[in-house]
Amino acid sequence: MEIHKTINGVRQLVRSWKKANLTVGVVPTMGFLHEGHASLIKRAKAENDRVVATIFVNPTQFGPNEDLATYPRDWDHDVSLCEKLGVDSIFNPEPAEMYPSPFFTEVEVPELSLELCGASRPGHFKGVCLVVTKLFHITEPHKAYFGLKDAQQYFILKRLAADLNLDVTLVPCPIVREPDGLALSSRNSYLNPVERQAATVLNKALTAAKEAIDKGERNVKTLLDMIADIVAGEPLAKLDYVQAVETVGLTPVTRIEGECLVAAAMWMGKTRLIDNFVYLWRKN
Ligand code: PAF
Repeated sequence: MEIHKTINGVRQLVRSWKKANLTVGVVPTMGFLHEGHASLIKRAKAENDRVVATIFVNPTQFGPNEDLATYPRDWDHDVSLCEKLGVDSIFNPEPAEMYPSPFFTEVEVPELSLELCGASRPGHFKGVCLVVTKLFHITEPHKAYFGLKDAQQYFILKRLAADLNLDVTLVPCPIVREPDGLALSSRNSYLNPVERQAATVLNKALTAAKEAIDKGERNVKTLLDMIADIVAGEPLAKLDYVQAVETVGLTPVTRIEGECLVAAAMWMGKTRLIDNFVYLWRKN
């Protein structure tokens, strides 16, 4: 496994693979890798001849009061997991390699960044779009793998790739959960044992709404109230938002029809957790 800290280094490696007609998959990450990331890497390995994992805690996607300084990191664990999973190269640049000074360019999909996490985290998706565009240009992959825990991120990046004619296929991968339903996230490491236990309420609330849709409930207000009530029943949890949107423009819907994303975020102490489900409803 080759570890590259420079854009030129990883680019030369990927170009040598492509010259040999090998296919390349990229798994963009911010490190502190867990089983969710492992599932993306395994999928990338199964579908490509070579896999690059990028490990870069991207400063431009953190707001001024967010957790950039304390974002969890474990380089040795990340390297050994990547090695074990057969990653061919890790790209691990320093911020100055990605954002040399001066740096002025912005990349944004504003329409899709208004609702859901975009409303609570202004500028977040602009930072994600910028870094992922750069990572695509640097690693020139055939396919790129994203977890659906960050569903809004996936839909925004899919739009970005289509609008800018990027020659890369985005592959959405299912959310990986703990046995008690909590979606895996690097930020789960911030939770103390009591918060960790209480954090399961988010998935419980979303699952209850999903089951209600299965039974025929289509009214979004009823569903969102149900989720909010269940989260409110957990004294340690504070709901940030719960919304249902269609999956093209990410605009709010009033009835579950076609493909909808039902997503929520909550605060558990100082930790913000997100979860969601995508529901495809078709009239029989
Ligand atoms: O999902 C993430 O970990 C990050 O947002 C990403 C896609 C690696 C960009 O920094």
